[in-house]
Amino acid sequence: MIETSYSIDFEKIVLPHWSIVGHISEVPNVGDSFTVNIGNESIIIVKDNFNNINAFLNVCPHRGARICNPGKSNIDRLVCPYHSWDFELNGKGTNASLRKFQTVIFGGLILVSLADNPLLLNNFRKDILMCAKAYGWESAKVAHRETFSFNVNWKVVLQDYLECYHCPNVHPLYAKVHGSEAQRFLGIDPTAANPTNPNHDGVYIPTTDHWIHKDYKDIEQEPITVYQNKLMNNDIVTGSKDGSPIAPLMGKYKNKNYDRTRTGVIFGFLNSTMSYPDYTVIYRLIPKSDKYTESEIIWLVDKDAVEGKDYNVNDLIYLWKHTILEDIEFLTKVQDGTSSYFFNSSGKLKNNLEESVVRFTQWYNKNVRETIQ
Ligand code: FES
Ligand SMILES: [Fe+2]
Repeated sequence: MIETSYSIDFEKIVLPHWSIVGHISEVPNVGDSFTVNIGNESIIIVKDNFNNINAFLNVCPHRGARICNPGKSNIDRLVCPYHSWDFELNGKGTNASLRKFQTVIFGGLILVSLADNPLLLNNFRKDILMCAKAYGWESAKVAHRETFSFNVNWKVVLQDYLECYHCPNVHPLYAKVHGSEAQRFLGIDPTAANPTNPNHDGVYIPTTDHWIHKDYKDIEQEPITVYQNKLMNNDIVTGSKDGSPIAPLMGKYKNKNYDRTRTGVIFGFLNSTMSYPDYTVIYRLIPKSDKYTESEIIWLVDKDAVEGKDYNVNDLIYLWKHTILEDIEFLTKVQDGTSSYFFNSSGKLKNNLEESVVRFTQWYNKNVRETIQ
């Protein structure tokens, strides 16, 4: 399934689905802006004079020059550096307007779709707000965001993110911290990846599963699933190198304490989150060509947390950065192997351990691959 061309994947995957592009704390003031990539497209996120957060194609409608350089800034107007066409913060210009995309803000997250008619967000809205409330996303700030490069097809990366069968081998530290998964995948406790006991005394998040239904009936909805798991043992309370607390508690945890759980969300195909009581990571998959993919990680902490006093960025990002660097090294070998003329994995996936990979692969084959004539 890897050989499908990038342009088909762009039309079927990148275009219709929503992307998390950032957090409201990144554009607190009028004129605050930053650029972000969705697939190969560069998008400008900017807060206008009416406090709307807008998303524009970072391409001048005149002769196609990039308008903004990569990164953050504060601007009064958008001005193209080539022939000085200028645009208001709502995208309107004297000669032409910028291409504008749909945005929604849920639970502090900024989402953008490049589609004229994006997928519906009914289930998504409910599930995201549930997580946002529990983990304090609306009153968070971005502590760090970093982009990583894979010389790998995006589907190889996604499939890796969708299972933890490989974790004990490839990610020993992650497996040590995220114990329930490791136990399950090592066969020690096959039920360990099930939702946390609802009677536990922490913050309970029910499992919801609206992620690419097996009957394919819900394809007009953005697919989403939410799951809460236990961490390894009493000494491990969050996703840090040694499992010890790493930042001030967030959301509902401020009135509770660490409860040795963490909650994951998979939405669409290109976004996921992992929340611990004291921080959240947002994972963005950015397919750029058939053999090149970027993945951006955004770390959220409580907005009042002070860097250097309440948290240390290097400690905060250690586990997930370490894990993605392991993936970069390993997935290059997978890309090489799956490029073999003789390789065909159909029917060889382990349903009990790779359920999400199976679901994605079936969905992709039916909705993307089989539509190509
Ligand atoms: S390309 Fe932007 S003003 Fe000419
Ligand atoms: Fe991995």
